[in-house]
Amino acid sequence: MVHSSTMTVLETSPVPRHVAIIMDGNGRWATQRRLPRTAGHMRGVQAVRRIVEACGRRGVRYLTLFAFSTENWRRPASEVSLLMRLFVRTLEKEADRLREQDVRLRVVGELSAFDDRLRNLITQVEEHTAKCQALTLTIAANYGGRWDILQAMQAMLKAHPDLATQPQAISETLLSPWLAMSYAPEPDLFIRTGGEQRVSNFLIWQLAYTELYFTDCWWPDFNEASLDQAFHWYSQRERRFGRTSAQLSGADA
Ligand code: IPE
Ligand code: IPE
Ligand code: MG
Repeated sequence: MVHSSTMTVLETSPVPRHVAIIMDGNGRWATQRRLPRTAGHMRGVQAVRRIVEACGRRGVRYLTLFAFSTENWRRPASEVSLLMRLFVRTLEKEADRLREQDVRLRVVGELSAFDDRLRNLITQVEEHTAKCQALTLTIAANYGGRWDILQAMQAMLKAHPDLATQPQAISETLLSPWLAMSYAPEPDLFIRTGGEQRVSNFLIWQLAYTELYFTDCWWPDFNEASLDQAFHWYSQRERRFGRTSAQLSGADA
């Protein structure tokens, strides 16, 4: 039998334990209002604050937000640098508030691409909130799902060089602890705002059995009511993990 990490995700509840969001539509939100795209990113930060708080209140344990993809370097240099500045400013401004709200911050992605100032700041805020427990907020920055699988494979082989000569011994169970988000269960609910129905190289390994929710709402407009709509939709899914409906209801073992 193939061992799948999804085999362990059996318990389901109306509130997802782990929510992963592609915050998309900032640029179009701004363009529609004849504002520069950067205005959309700034409003997007307000939506982040709202959604972190709302998730905390609803008992979500892990919230993962895609802030910058490995592909986003292809954007105009001015937009990339605005996004970096906004990231720095937001981390500086929000560190204390996160701790007050018992929110632990973690950042995943290829951080070596960032300058020293941003990297140090990330470490500082991670340490500042390290003891917080209510909610783990993960920001995926310079993150790509393919990067994650590759770096996990490389790290695993570095730790167990013997596996290189016996590839048949490599299993999901051996590889998954090396993935960037190995501290969290796989996402229960994925949300993408902005109308596109694609995964854009987000957590491609971890989304294997996640419920996928797409909404046309631009990210800056996404609010508590939008979150509740997504949670309501989620609560009506039947998560079968390969089994049949009858098995889940106990009618058929
Ligand atoms: C998402 O909004 C934010 C980032 C990718 C950083 P976009 O900037 O992609 O907004 P649209 O898709 O152009 O509207
Ligand atoms: C995905 O949004 C990445 C983030 C939200 C950070 P994009 O807007 O970059 O995605 P594509 O390129 O349109 O798929
Ligand atoms: Mg976009």
